[in-house]
Amino acid sequence: AAMAAMHGDLLLLGVAGKMGPSLARRARRACEAAGVSKRIVGVARFSNPGARRQLEDWGVETIAADLLEPEALAALPDFENVVHMAARKFGSSGGSEYLTWAMNCYLPGRVAERFSHSRIVAFSSGNVYPFSLLRQGGPVESTPMAPVGEYGVTALGRERIFEHFSRANGTLVTILRLNYAIDLRYGVLLDVGQKVFDRRPVNLAMGHANVIWQGDANSICLRSFAFAQSPPFVLNLTGPETISIRWVARRFGERFGIEPEFEGEEAETALLNNAARCHRLFGYPTVGVEEMIEWVADWIGMGRATLNKPTHFETRDGKF
Ligand SMILES: NC(=O)c1ccc[n+]([C@@H]2O[C@H](COP(=O)([O-])OP(=O)(O)OC[C@H]3O[C@@H](n4cnc5c(N)ncnc54)[C@H](OP(=O)(O)O)[C@@H]3O)[C@@H](O)[C@H]2O)c1
Repeated sequence: AAMAAMHGDLLLLGVAGKMGPSLARRARRACEAAGVSKRIVGVARFSNPGARRQLEDWGVETIAADLLEPEALAALPDFENVVHMAARKFGSSGGSEYLTWAMNCYLPGRVAERFSHSRIVAFSSGNVYPFSLLRQGGPVESTPMAPVGEYGVTALGRERIFEHFSRANGTLVTILRLNYAIDLRYGVLLDVGQKVFDRRPVNLAMGHANVIWQGDANSICLRSFAFAQSPPFVLNLTGPETISIRWVARRFGERFGIEPEFEGEEAETALLNNAARCHRLFGYPTVGVEEMIEWVADWIGMGRATLNKPTHFETRDGKF
């Protein structure tokens, strides 16, 4: 229904990462189901050419471009709807911080100017919030932002820059503060499950987290175009429960017949995200935590391929 209601074509910037291919495919399928004809085009450098072939097999057009190259950005066709997901997290400490700033703060300004007449859904992160006490129920959209570490600061910068250009040009923008998407091939649950399976200790320092099935996050991304406004509409995007990492490890342990090993203890605070407003607007996610754990456990048990991209969710110093 979101794709049928969407006026015009859809451009996905940063389509080749962990979320982009499944988002593009969902948009393509939704168009087919609704019987609407729409161009869906994904942009990335395609450092992994396999992602490009797969997208094209699914009926998603692709454009290979380095978005930091001004000519490449200028040469992109106009689109009425743009998802901005090109970003950088890992390697954000240890010498290449400048690139994280360029991707997360400078590029949003370039994109917002290039597509000032489009509706933009821009991914942000729960990392804009401070760690919060478990008993407080997690930050809501109006909680003051206070990121921990340089990556989180650039995520805040991304939001501020989109807000500036949204206000300056009247561009309709939705900002989605996401954490953490769960897929079979990466995510917090895979990280914990693999540790249990490999009999490595599960670190409890960041003892709690919020997670959402990636398909649900992608669905809400597409549906959130309808809420884009100037100044931006901001929405926390995650699942309804605050999961205990200890409990998750035990659930994996039961499925694998392995007693999990732990290291450290839960802190009183964690990087949390309260998405009550999101659930009010879009309903609860379709996939629950138990199901996600079962699917991820089966995936690990069968030895299926992963992206080999740990989330480092246990990090408490904000360095990624
Ligand atoms: N996944 C999560 O759980 C999560 C959590 C919180 C927030 N988010 C946000 O959600 C969005 C999508 O996340 P993700 O996990 O899919 O990100 P990702 O895996 O890091 O993907 C980033 C994408 O950007 C492309 N890219 C990077 N530099 C580029 C450049 N200079 N020009 C063109 N393309 C470039 C990459 O492909 P190439 O290398 O081929 O160019 C890739 O397609 C991001 O904005 C992220 O901040 C995700």
